[in-house]
Amino acid sequence: MWGKNKKDGRESRESMREALRLFAYLKPYRRHFFPALACLFITAALSLAFPYLMGELIGGAVNVGTDSVTSQIDRVALTLLAVLALQAFIAYWRIRWFAFAGESGLADIRKDTYSKLVRMPMNYFSEHRVGELSSRIAADLTLIRDALILTVPQIIRQSVMLVGGLIFIFVSSWKLTAVMLSCIPVVVILMSIFGRGIRSLSKDAQDEMAGSNVIVEETLQGISSVKSFSNEAFETRRYSGALGRFVDVTLGAARARALFVSFIIFVLFGAITFVVWYGSGMLGRGEIEFHEFNRFVLFSIFIGAALGSFPDILSQVHKAVGATARVREILADETEDVGLDDTLQVTRFNGGVEMKDVSFSYPSRADIDVLATVSFTVAPGERVAIVGPSGAGKSTIVQLLLRFYDPCSGEVRFDGKNAQDYSLQALRSQMAIVPQEVLLFGGSIKENIAYGWTGAEEADIEEAARKANAHGFISDFPEGYETLVGDRGVKLSGGQRQRIAIARAILADPAILLLDEATSSLDSESEQAVQEALDGLMKGRTSIIIAHRLSTIREADRILVLRDGQIVESGTHEELSIKEGGVYRMLSELQFAAD
Ligand SMILES: Nc1ncnc2c1ncn2[C@@H]1O[C@H](COP(=O)(O)OP(=O)(O)OP(=O)(O)O)[C@@H](O)[C@H]1O
Ligand SMILES: [Mg+2]
Repeated sequence: MWGKNKKDGRESRESMREALRLFAYLKPYRRHFFPALACLFITAALSLAFPYLMGELIGGAVNVGTDSVTSQIDRVALTLLAVLALQAFIAYWRIRWFAFAGESGLADIRKDTYSKLVRMPMNYFSEHRVGELSSRIAADLTLIRDALILTVPQIIRQSVMLVGGLIFIFVSSWKLTAVMLSCIPVVVILMSIFGRGIRSLSKDAQDEMAGSNVIVEETLQGISSVKSFSNEAFETRRYSGALGRFVDVTLGAARARALFVSFIIFVLFGAITFVVWYGSGMLGRGEIEFHEFNRFVLFSIFIGAALGSFPDILSQVHKAVGATARVREILADETEDVGLDDTLQVTRFNGGVEMKDVSFSYPSRADIDVLATVSFTVAPGERVAIVGPSGAGKSTIVQLLLRFYDPCSGEVRFDGKNAQDYSLQALRSQMAIVPQEVLLFGGSIKENIAYGWTGAEEADIEEAARKANAHGFISDFPEGYETLVGDRGVKLSGGQRQRIAIARAILADPAILLLDEATSSLDSESEQAVQEALDGLMKGRTSIIIAHRLSTIREADRILVLRDGQIVESGTHEELSIKEGGVYRMLSELQFAAD
């Protein structure tokens, strides 16, 4: 028990230190942040003037009537108004500066986190769920933001009130203060016990909330799958299950909080009642002046309020520290080094591609060999097709060429040089991929085509679209190239999307073209249109074509047949078609019989 507590303590101190490191992000805004902090101290100190002068005012009111007292209370009231005006003025700037420094710093953290995320190696994304990652950027950073902009000022204000208040009541009457302070240890100890319980429960609640958010995100992303399987009820049950666990935990936390609040009401205010009762006795005995007594009571209320606000503050801080840990985890992770700096030195590849004895298994499933000593060479400008049953490892070869992953053994070479000797940016800029599932970004068709080369002019884009046989359907839209696609625009068909992807690839003008089932989702007519576009695109470049439909690859210079991660046959369509007992021959007989 003790050992665990000690460890917890060390861990939470460590994570607190970690959290404080994020304050480095405020550095560029220190010219606003530090003045805001100073203002905060000043306004907090000025708020102490309120109970002080108010005590004076009420005390004066009792003796009102004589001229001197009347002029004195006028003076006190005016001072109070002046203090309030000053405080209001400073508070205005304090909040604006604090918000400026905080929001700007937070935006920087957000930018850094996002830019880290998109630079993570592919494997990272198979190990983390998309919902979880986007919730870090959304929910966790919002928590940190609230902590910085709302909780930090709270901490400072309440601490100043607490310390200042204690000093003032001590000066007003040390005896009464001693009576009051004797009550405090009890209050503080009980508070820390409650605080700990509430904190751990609120962390659990956060985790549960994140879990249920992942369900929402993922099902909304894959809403068509949910609907097509009529799984609305199933998902609703899954969500309400997760939500139920969240509610359970929050209710537990609420119970702890409820206990705490009733405790505050009874014990804290009971203690205040006791102190005031004692003070009244002192007043009767003439041991304390009336205005001192007033001041004492008002300050005590402020101190009580400050004390009472600490559990909430603590739970906010704790939430923020947890969020910080998760965000810092992303910020500390290794990204892939794409080598953006040496883009200028990249000369165009000739297009020679070679795989030499490549073996590979995905890091997330290290025990399964996806590729086993695969070797092949593709000469510059050659058109090579890879065929084979589903799961054979065809797309994996494409991923290795793009260096989304590195082979476990063996080498991938471009123009005779190991792929690892090029920077990722240099390497990937030489290739363009037309995938089977084309993802278009929200935005115009024009922007989506320009994704292949962000510096493209309008004329280049249109030319690329023409070559991709896409210009026709694009001009049919009333808004042409400005037509919005994706979530809030026109939904394009699979074939139209593929032609946009081909236009992208044309614009990118790569030395090496990778087609992963680029015509698979098309009818024969659009397939012909796309095939023509592809034929044009492949001219003069090395092309690696993956296709299930063998009719599309008959023209290939060479066909590699992949099965269970190994190349089992290679040759032209003619050669492989006459090979007795060959895999290709069997596949093609099956397909052409079906056609
Ligand atoms: N990210 C991944 N993590 C772990 N295993 C993977 C991953 N991607 C693919 N695999 C596995 O690697 C094997 C080869 O997959 P790959 O996608 O290369 O097949 P494919 O030949 O392209 O199949 P298809 O024709 O169906 O597209 C499969 O067994 C698959 O389960
Ligand atoms: Mg595949």
